[in-house]
Amino acid sequence: LRTDWKTVLVLLALAPAACRQDMHDQPKYLPLQKSAFFDDGRASRPLIDGTVARGHLEDTAPSHTGKVGDTYLRRVPYAITRPLLERGRERYDIFCSPCHDRTGYGGGMIVLRGFRRPPSFHQDRLREVADGFLFEVVSKGFGVMPSYAVQVPAADRWAIVAYVRALQLSQHATLDDVPDEERARLESEKP
Ligand code: HEC
Repeated sequence: LRTDWKTVLVLLALAPAACRQDMHDQPKYLPLQKSAFFDDGRASRPLIDGTVARGHLEDTAPSHTGKVGDTYLRRVPYAITRPLLERGRERYDIFCSPCHDRTGYGGGMIVLRGFRRPPSFHQDRLREVADGFLFEVVSKGFGVMPSYAVQVPAADRWAIVAYVRALQLSQHATLDDVPDEERARLESEKP
């Protein structure tokens, strides 16, 4: 019982020290409080146009879904420029090559270690699908392949799609795919 009294005394001695109110009384507004600072008298400010709450972006734009209605976009909805392709290559090498390998045949390191082997990009079916379909595969995942929507923003997913097309061309192009002026140059360089 005596020790109990000691504890109580110690606690009583400490109690006043806990009574500083600085953190409680800091100058701040509570939600929906009145304000003398803003002209409209409201402490809570109106949302800026286009504000999206975290985790609530439900964008239905084709550049976000890869589709118009139920139809896949045939082509990447951006101009295919060298910087776009370079960005696509960089993102592809980071996010896709571990499984699809850097050439797209499907022999990436994870596959060599036992993960299901993805189909090669170098086959007619995947050469013929719409760009919007490839975008959807990356955005939503496909079979055992996970979705990359969280790690890779939509614009980068399109850059990756454009780069997958470049990979496909790298393994499957004819002289007809080459612009006229370049074709003449290629032909003159023939061994
Ligand atoms: C963890 C391994 C892995 C990664 C990383 C990965 N994929 Fe895949 N991908 C697969 C597998 C496995 C399949 C086949 C899925 C199945 O059949 O269940 C596949 C299928 C595909 C297909 C074919 C869909 C079809 O119609 O057959 C495409 C296109 C594709 N992936 C693109 C990509 C792109 C682009 C990336 C990078 C953003 C990527 N994948 C990242 C494993 C992966």
